[in-house]
This record gives sequence, C-alpha cells and structure tokens, in this order.
Amino acid sequence: MSQHVDENLYEQLDKELEKLQDLKQKDDRDADELAYSLYRMAIRFGTWDPAAIDLSEDKKHFAELDDQKRAYLIHFCTGFWNAEENVALKFCPWIMIAPSTHQQAYLSTQLVEEFKHTEFFERYFREVLNVGRETKVLNLVHETLDDRSRQLLEALDKGPEEREMAMVEGLVHYQGMIEGVQAMVGYEVFEAVYGQYGLLPGLKEAFKQIKRDEGRHVGFGLRMLKRFAQKDPKYAKRIRELFEEFYSAVIVRYDQPIVVEGKEIETPEEVRGRERIDRMFARRMKDIGIDTLQQV
Ligand SMILES: [Fe+2]
Ligand SMILES: [Fe+2]
Repeated sequence: MSQHVDENLYEQLDKELEKLQDLKQKDDRDADELAYSLYRMAIRFGTWDPAAIDLSEDKKHFAELDDQKRAYLIHFCTGFWNAEENVALKFCPWIMIAPSTHQQAYLSTQLVEEFKHTEFFERYFREVLNVGRETKVLNLVHETLDDRSRQLLEALDKGPEEREMAMVEGLVHYQGMIEGVQAMVGYEVFEAVYGQYGLLPGLKEAFKQIKRDEGRHVGFGLRMLKRFAQKDPKYAKRIRELFEEFYSAVIVRYDQPIVVEGKEIETPEEVRGRERIDRMFARRMKDIGIDTLQQV
C-alpha cells in the first residue's frame, strides 16, 4: 500500500520535473521561490540511496556482454564517474556565488547529490565492472572547471555586477554544458546501447534516480540562464559566446578514439554521439532563447 502511494507521488514528481525542464512552460516564481521549492523537493524526495540499488542482474549481464559492448561500458562509465566526481569536488564556489540563502540552500542539495552520483559509479566499478577506471577518457569541458572555480571565488570580492556575470558564466559551464548537454546525452546513449535491450537494470535504475536529481539541477540552471538572457542583452551575448566556445570541447566526448584495456574498439553503432550532442545543443540554445540572437 505504502509503495503504491509512493509510486503515485513519484509519478507526480516526475511530471513536475518535466515541466520544470520544459522551458516553453511559464514559471512565475522568482529565483528565490523557485530555489526554495526545489530545495524542499530535494529534502523530501531526493532520498534514494546509491548503496541500495540491486546490481545482481548487472553482474550477470556484464559477464555475458560481447567484447565491444563490454569495453564500451567501461569507457562510458569511466566518463560518468570522472564527471560526477569532478563536479562534486568543484561545486562549492557555485554555491557561494549565489546571492541569497534560498539559492545557496538549494545548491547545497545539489552538492551532496553529485557526491551520491559519484558514490554510485565507484560502487559500480567495484561490484560489477571489477576493473579500475580507464585513464585516457577525454572530457575537455571539465578541464577548464578549475579556472572557472577560481573566477567564481575571485568574483566574491567584487561588486554585484561582476558577481552576477561570474554566476552567469558558471551556470553556462556547469548546468548548461556539463549537465544540460553532456550528461543528458549520456542518459540517451545508455538507453540506446544497453537499456533498450533490457540490459543492466541496476544501472538503469541508478540513471532514473540520477535523472530526477539532474532534472532539478538542469531545470534551475536553464531557467536562471533564460532569465538572465532576457534581463540584459550583455548576458544573452555572453551566454551565446560561451555556448559557441564550448561546442568543440563537448563534441570530443563522443568523437575520441575508445581505448579500453589497451585495445582500441569501434564505437557501438547505437551511440551516435555527435548527432545527439548537436540536437541537445540546439535545444538548449533555444530553451535559453539565444538561438536567434545574431539575426536580431
Ligand atoms: Fe550528477
Ligand atoms: Fe547534477
């Protein structure tokens, strides 16, 4: 009975999250109201436990995968683990730059969630893949995160205008690119290569939970960017510039050679990374309202 109630509740929650991420839908709440409601949502419902997901089927499936899908899974999960860990370790300045208690409180829930995502992949390697992370998986959009963190910290000592610009740039880099484009494409790739064939139900369940968390992260980030773009043309211009700058870094995630355990493998045909990145990229620019900027 209680599980039934929970399922209904989560169904409702998922609808709310879909609405949040659909930027065509209006949301009249101001930034603090939005942040507070997402903070409440995270406190009440963001309570899944990465240690509790059943991985027994995944162990069997992994042993039965063909060589290509097996190697690709190691490459793919390395990318995810690195990304989750990296964003978790560097997220504090994104919290500090936010201008209010409610926004900082909300962003603090994001911080712990990134560590939960990291914990899941750490566990997946230990219990299912049984290998270490690959060392040469390129993720260029992460390489400038240290500089971005420093810029955010430096902006804390500056005036409100510079702080706000630093926040806008931080939102593009993290919530816009890393979460809004790269991670979202990653979920699609998992579904195309493994999920649609009924493979790896533990990883599928983890992605379902991670996507719920990310729905809040991306929904908030994109809505903030859209508001900044509407508030001042200088923000719209800067967001667009950064999107263009990041494109070549983001595309590398799927264009790089895949080397696993010393051997190069072909990318599984279902991946179609470039096509997916291009589509997500265009969607995000449209979401924020910067896709037609140059024609204006
Ligand atoms: Fe994450
Ligand atoms: Fe996230």
